Amino acid sequence: MENFIFFNDTTILFGKGQIKNLGNEISKQQGSRVLLTYGSDRVKKNGLLTEVESLLKEAGLEFIEYGGIVANPRISSVREGIELIRKHNLDFILAVGGGSVLDASKAMAAGFYIEGDPWQLFKGTEVKKALPLASVLTLAATGSEMNGNAVVSNPETGEKLGMGSSLVRPRFSILDPEYTFSVPAYQTAAGAADIMSHVFEQYFSPSAHTELQDRISEAIILTVKEWAPVAVEDGTNYEARANLLWASTLALNGLISTGKRGDWATHSMEHAVSAVNDMTHGAGLAVLFPNWMMEVLDKDQNDRFYNMAVRVWDVELHEDKKAVAIEGIKRIREFFNSLGLPAKLSENGIDEKDLPTLVEKSMTWNGPLGSFGQLDEDQVKRIFTASI
Ligand code: NZQ
Ligand code: ZN
Repeated sequence: MENFIFFNDTTILFGKGQIKNLGNEISKQQGSRVLLTYGSDRVKKNGLLTEVESLLKEAGLEFIEYGGIVANPRISSVREGIELIRKHNLDFILAVGGGSVLDASKAMAAGFYIEGDPWQLFKGTEVKKALPLASVLTLAATGSEMNGNAVVSNPETGEKLGMGSSLVRPRFSILDPEYTFSVPAYQTAAGAADIMSHVFEQYFSPSAHTELQDRISEAIILTVKEWAPVAVEDGTNYEARANLLWASTLALNGLISTGKRGDWATHSMEHAVSAVNDMTHGAGLAVLFPNWMMEVLDKDQNDRFYNMAVRVWDVELHEDKKAVAIEGIKRIREFFNSLGLPAKLSENGIDEKDLPTLVEKSMTWNGPLGSFGQLDEDQVKRIFTASI
C-alpha cells in the first residue's frame, strides 16, 4: 500500500426530508447571498425549486436564480454564472440537479477568483480560492456531491476537460433518494454504469496489497449490481434509489483510492466521445470499459481481474485465471446491456470517421494514458475500433 492523506469534509445529509436543514446549513457556512443554479425547468415543475426558495427565504437568505445548465455543461454557463455572482455580489452557490449542474457551479466558484476566462481552470491554472458551494442532488452517478472534481465542455475548442481542487468540494450535499425517483430508466442505467466505472478506474491499479480498499470497491459494485436493475424497473423503489445514491457518493469521494494509483484512461476516452457528440457519460463508459479491460488484462500483477470475476460476477473458480477474468469481463458487458445501455458507440451516431479525433482528444496526458494500462496511441485506437 502506498502512503496517503485522506481528508474529506463534505457534510452529507442523507435521506427523506433532509431538505429541511437547508437554511441552517448555509447559514453555518456564513453564506447570505446565494446563486441558485439548476438545469431544465424540471425542478420548477416538480416543486423542488419552490421548496428550496421558500426555505432560503425562511432562513433570511437572499438569492438569484440561474437555470438552463445542460448535461455535459458548457463553459458559457460558467461564464454567465460568474457574471451574475459579480453583478449581485453573491457569496454562496447552491446547485440543484445532477453532476452537470454541480460541476458548472464548481467552476463558477473557482472561476470567480481568477482573472480572465474560467476555461483556464481546465487548462492547468491552479485554484487558489473558491466561493463556498453546496448541492441538492437529484441523480446518482458522478460522486460530484462529495468530491472536488468538475468536468466542463468547451464547444469552441471541441474539448471536454476536468479540473480538481479540494476548494470546490461541496460544503454539504443533501441526498434525498426521493429526488431521484423521476430519473428515467436509461439515465438511471447510465448513472449505474458511471458508478461502477469509477470503481473500476480505482480498483485496477499498479499498486499492490490494498485488500481493504479492494474489498470496499467490490462491495460498491455488488450493491450497484443488485439495485440498479430494481431502480431501472421501478424508479420509485426507495431502497434501490437510496443504495445507488450512497454507492455513487462512496465510489468517488477519495475513500477507495487511498493507498493506490487509479487509472482513468477510460474516462479520458469517454470525455473525448461526449465532446464529439454529447453522448451520455455513463452510456459511453458502458461501451468502452469492457474493451479497455480486454486490452489491459495482461498487465494485472495482482489478480484483480480474477478476483472481481469470482467475487462480484459469480464466475466459478478455475486454475485458468485468464479464462475466469475474460468471463468476468463478458458478464460486465452483459450486465450493462441488460440495463438497456448500448453495446457500441455507433448506436449513438459515432462512426469510423470520428476515430482520429477521438484518439487525438483522448491523449490528454503527457505520455501513456492511464497509470495501470499505460496505453499508447495504437492501443487507444484499438479500444475505440472495438467500441465503434
Ligand atoms: O437539466 P435537468 O432537468 O437537471 O436534467 C438532467 C439531465 O438532462 C436529468 N436529471 C437529473 N436529475 C433528474 C433528471 N431527470 C429526471 N429526474 C431527475 N431527478 O438527467 C440528465 C443528465 O443529468 P447530468 O447532471 O448531466 O447527469 P450526471 O449526474 O450523470 O452528470 C454527468 C456529468 O458529470 C460529469 C460527466 O462527464 C457529465 O458531464 N462527471 C463528473 C464527475 C465529477 N464531478 O466527479 C465525474 C464523472 O466521471 C463525470 O465525468
Ligand atoms: Zn464518470
